[in-house]
Parts: sequence; C-alpha cells; structure tokens
Amino acid sequence: MADDRKLHWENVYSTKDEVDVSWFQESPAPSLELIHLAQAKRSDAIIDVGGGASRLIDNLLAEGFDGVTVLDLSEAALDMARKRLGAKGDEVTWIAADATLWEPPQVYDIWHDRAAFHFVTDRGQQAAYIERLKRGLKIGGHLIIGTFALDGPEKCSGLPVARYSSDSLTDLLGAGFKLIDSRRHDHSTPWESVQRFQFSTFKRIA
Ligand SMILES: C[S@@+](CC[C@H](N)C(=O)[O-])C[C@H]1O[C@@H](n2cnc3c(N)ncnc32)[C@H](O)[C@@H]1O
Repeated sequence: MADDRKLHWENVYSTKDEVDVSWFQESPAPSLELIHLAQAKRSDAIIDVGGGASRLIDNLLAEGFDGVTVLDLSEAALDMARKRLGAKGDEVTWIAADATLWEPPQVYDIWHDRAAFHFVTDRGQQAAYIERLKRGLKIGGHLIIGTFALDGPEKCSGLPVARYSSDSLTDLLGAGFKLIDSRRHDHSTPWESVQRFQFSTFKRIA
C-alpha cells in the first residue's frame, strides 16, 4: 500500500509540470500568513511535510529563514524543487520519506502541511502520522495544517481524501494541541475551478 502511494506520487511528479497540478500555487500566501501569525523567527526549524514541489520553501528562503526542511514521499517532487532553487537548494534539508513511517531526527518549531495529511485516510496511518507529529514538534511550537474543508473535493489526484473542519481535526489530534486560528481558503486551481480548504493552526502544549 505504502509502495503504491509512492509510485503514484513519483508518477505524478515525473509526468506533469509543476504548474499542471490542481494544487499548484504561484504564491503560498495562506501558509506564509500563518507562519507569520505563529511569529516564527528566522532561525526557527520549519518543516514542510508533504511539501512536494511547493514554492513555500522558495519564499521562506527569500525571507531569510535558515532552518528549513522539506519532506515528501516523492523524490521526483523534491528534485523538481531543488532544481528550481539552484544553489539556494543546498540550504534546505530534503527528506524523502513517508510521513506515517519516518522518525523525526530533531524537533521542529513549525510543522506545516498543506494538502498532504488529508491523503492519509486510514485510521491507523492517521495515528502513526500524529505520533510522529508529537515526537517532531516542540512544546510551544506550531502546527499549521491545510486540508480540504468539509465542503471541499472528495478526491485529489485521483485519490480519496479525508475532509476536515478545525473541530474534527482538534478531536483527531487529541490532547496536546490548542487551536489558535481557523480559517477557510478557496484555492483556485490552474484551470480556475475552486477547491475549498480549511487551514488550522495549533500550538503544541504539554
Ligand atoms: C496535493 S500535493 C501537495 C504538495 C504541497 N504541499 C503543495 O502545497 O504544493 C500532496 C503531496 O503530499 C505528498 N504525500 C502524500 N502522502 C504522503 C505521505 N504519506 N508522506 C509524505 N508525503 C506524502 C505527495 O507526494 C504530494 O507531494
């Protein structure tokens, strides 16, 4: 199953251009706003989980953040981002791994996930992701998570997704996460259809 998922995403990123996927964003403005809301410092350790080839990393480097990591199941996605960044890419830690299986090698101040967690639909795998999140996110750190909203699409990239409200995410995460911001976002795909997202920001508490 995990291998099928990896094959799926390797195939997507090997056969499509960066701008030809529904989740492409010229500017990751909603994520950046929330990273600022969390009052991230330039020296903070920030991880973009399921970051794919997103331009969030370009923006973080341009703003002077110097402890940034991108994790994704797909090596092709990471290569695409790394190539785009050129020499700047050497400043990033790239991790090709499954977010439900990896062992975080450090703790992070900010854990960002846009449109990756919602592909984890199996209860056991959701618990495994949250287990890694708890190990990898500092007490006092922030989780910023963007998923399809309850009235968002039921599938993405041909795969089923789990849709959330900030309340249902709060319930799923359990104790240890305090919701500090919840907002909706209408994402316009490159072919101008609208996908309803919801972004939740949590503070990790003891
Ligand atoms: C819809 S794309 C979003 C990419 C990126 N976050 C963005 O906003 O452009 C979903 C991403 O999640 C990654 N992904 C899916 N399941 C994953 C998993 N279990 N572990 C790590 N990455 C995963 C995929 O490879 C893909 O890059």
